[in-house]
Amino acid sequence: MSAEKQPVGVIGVGWVGLVTAACFAELGHPVTARDILPEKVESLSRGETTIHEPGLDELLARNAERLTFTTDMEELLDAARLLFVCVDTPPTVSGDADLSRVRSVVEELRADGDHALVMKSTVPAGTGNSIRRDMPGLSYVSCPEFLKEGTAVKDFMNPDRVVIGADPGEEGAADAVAALYEPLGGEIVRTDVASAEMIKLASNAFLATKISFINEIANVCEEVDADVGEVARGMGLDERIGPKFLKAGVGWGGSCFGKDTIALKKLAGNSGYHFQLLSAVIDVNELQKRRVVQKLKRYLGSLAGSKVALLGLAFKPDTDDMRDAASLVLAARLEGEGAKVAAYDPIAAERARGLMPTVELATSALEALDGADAAVLVTEWPEFAELDWSEAASQMARPLLIDGRNFLDARSLMAAGFEYEGIGVPTAVRQEA
Ligand code: UGA
Repeated sequence: MSAEKQPVGVIGVGWVGLVTAACFAELGHPVTARDILPEKVESLSRGETTIHEPGLDELLARNAERLTFTTDMEELLDAARLLFVCVDTPPTVSGDADLSRVRSVVEELRADGDHALVMKSTVPAGTGNSIRRDMPGLSYVSCPEFLKEGTAVKDFMNPDRVVIGADPGEEGAADAVAALYEPLGGEIVRTDVASAEMIKLASNAFLATKISFINEIANVCEEVDADVGEVARGMGLDERIGPKFLKAGVGWGGSCFGKDTIALKKLAGNSGYHFQLLSAVIDVNELQKRRVVQKLKRYLGSLAGSKVALLGLAFKPDTDDMRDAASLVLAARLEGEGAKVAAYDPIAAERARGLMPTVELATSALEALDGADAAVLVTEWPEFAELDWSEAASQMARPLLIDGRNFLDARSLMAAGFEYEGIGVPTAVRQEA
């Protein structure tokens, strides 16, 4: 069988597993994907997805014939030699990555010299070596995931790089994984397993550091009347710095940055090394979400009895993912201050319902803004740029907007009658209204 048509196995059909399965099927590979949850397997087999990821439904529909979903590990092992492990590794109470799901998968595999485990799940450096010690005979390749939610299909098909870690003796399995990714054209980084594991953790930690850094710069900009957008633009043109991930705002969220920064900090700490920079990166992010409450208090005084509207709930646009979303902390803090919170998100409201039961979930932005004393833009959904802000101003008790993503045009908002404040924008813009 040609390398292009090599069967692929996927274990764990969460967000990473499903995107991986769909994209390999799109590249022409027969894919067998196994999950332990029968209801998930049944609905995927019927062609129904449960996650929102642009382009994914189309890929699943177009490649339905090449995709098999099953709960049966034996079926998977018979179907494919390369097994991409995509189970989640949530934090334990100690903050370390919980490897129990990875471990139970490994226990089900056959160390018959025939199969190769390709680790996509984010695991602490050293995991690969310990699995190989426990299961000699099982080939092991680390192939960490760099997809972003909301652009995962595009990222998969156009990778900046593909990292493939394998130790001596495992070159055959690593070559087979490299062959799968070669048609995509990204640079393939061949390295050892421990370094591949560290590349993943270090990449996420660095991106989180970049965001916390620009957020701190934004906070200083507010003190000195500078504009963080201009600062980021000027910094980003330096090729050594680059323009991406320099958008100031209410802080990073999502399922990965929080979990992976803490896991890396703990991984270092477990070996006696205190990763001081990462501790600050995490602290800055926590404080950044809370600063919005201080901003509101400067305008409204006490928040008790006021109504605050949150625009956007998902941790970023184009996803309904609420994990570690800034909106969760904000809603809780605002309610803690005695405010009544209304919120609108185009697609995450359903997921938000159980997480913020006392928040009034509106079916449109204007409904959330109706009678509000202030609004906070939390997620930069494109539809907020198109909103009729003059009408919004007329419906609010006080047209005051804190733009937590510096997403809207300050001058248009002020022309529409708003008091507008972003994150790290000059006082002149903040007070002009
Ligand atoms: C992140 C990484 O970017 C992916 O490379 C990685 O594969 C993934 O984690 C993972 O480990 O699975 P993701 O969490 O989907 O991807 O989202 P990002 O686009 O990285 O955004 C994370 C958070 O940072 C969002 O809340 C976003 O609003 C915020 N952000 C991003 C900023 O506040 N400023 C920026 O300039 C960029």
